[in-house]
Amino acid sequence: MSDAHSKHDEDGPHEGPIKTPKQLVLAVVFSFLVPIIGIVLLVTFVSQANRPAAGSDGLAAEAVARRIQPVGQVVVRDASDPSALKTGEQVYTAQCAACHAAGVAGAPKFGDEGAWAARIKTGYEALLTSALKGKGAMGPQGGGDHSDLEIGRAVVFMANKAGAGFPEPKAPAAAAPKLGDKAAWAPRLAAGIDGLTASAIKGKGAMPPRGGSAGTDADIKAVVTYMVGQAK
Ligand code: HEC
Repeated sequence: MSDAHSKHDEDGPHEGPIKTPKQLVLAVVFSFLVPIIGIVLLVTFVSQANRPAAGSDGLAAEAVARRIQPVGQVVVRDASDPSALKTGEQVYTAQCAACHAAGVAGAPKFGDEGAWAARIKTGYEALLTSALKGKGAMGPQGGGDHSDLEIGRAVVFMANKAGAGFPEPKAPAAAAPKLGDKAAWAPRLAAGIDGLTASAIKGKGAMPPRGGSAGTDADIKAVVTYMVGQAK
């Protein structure tokens, strides 16, 4: 470049850092490259951050199953298994303590041997019958919705805390009819699907209402239909 040229450029009104075509090309290239490199780095950073750490179970089948599992589940408990039912203490706390803890409405107070002694003398069966059928201000089942065995456990829990020595009530010998056991089911099939569904919903013997599940009537009926189908 000649001196005259530079001098002219320096004097020109559009003075800037780009003075040669090469600088112009470089400037254009950099003005594209810098943001693109920036974007690439950002994307890599973000996708790295979201990726589960090496060795984690983010994509393991079990973890995926856990994430996509439905909100509600029907849990069908084995009603012939007494451990599936609430303990006497659990039933007492949930249902009976409302009156019996403080001795509301003439209820014999929890742990008060004087209030319980005469009642305990009448025997476990009599106390159970009162609790199941209701007595005085106490509604049937203590106003709750437990299985007879659970009520029995609560009665034993309360009576024993007040000085009785009742044994833990056992599940009735007539256990739940086994799946596929034709003989056990034969007399029950006479009730029909609707009859059996009704007892499953209400509970029967050692079986808590809805078999202890939170299933809808339709769920229960589907399960009953399945069980009956297996027994034919
Ligand atoms: C609404 C209050 C109330 C609730 C809830 C309640 N009870 Fe009672 N319970 C009473 C009253 C009142 C009596 C006294 C009845 C009487 O002798 O007239 C009583 C008496 C009893 C007796 C003695 C019965 C007898 O024959 O002397 C037993 C056993 C008993 N309750 C068990 C239970 C159990 C088990 C539960 C929980 C599942 C329960 N109760 C929940 C109010 C209640």
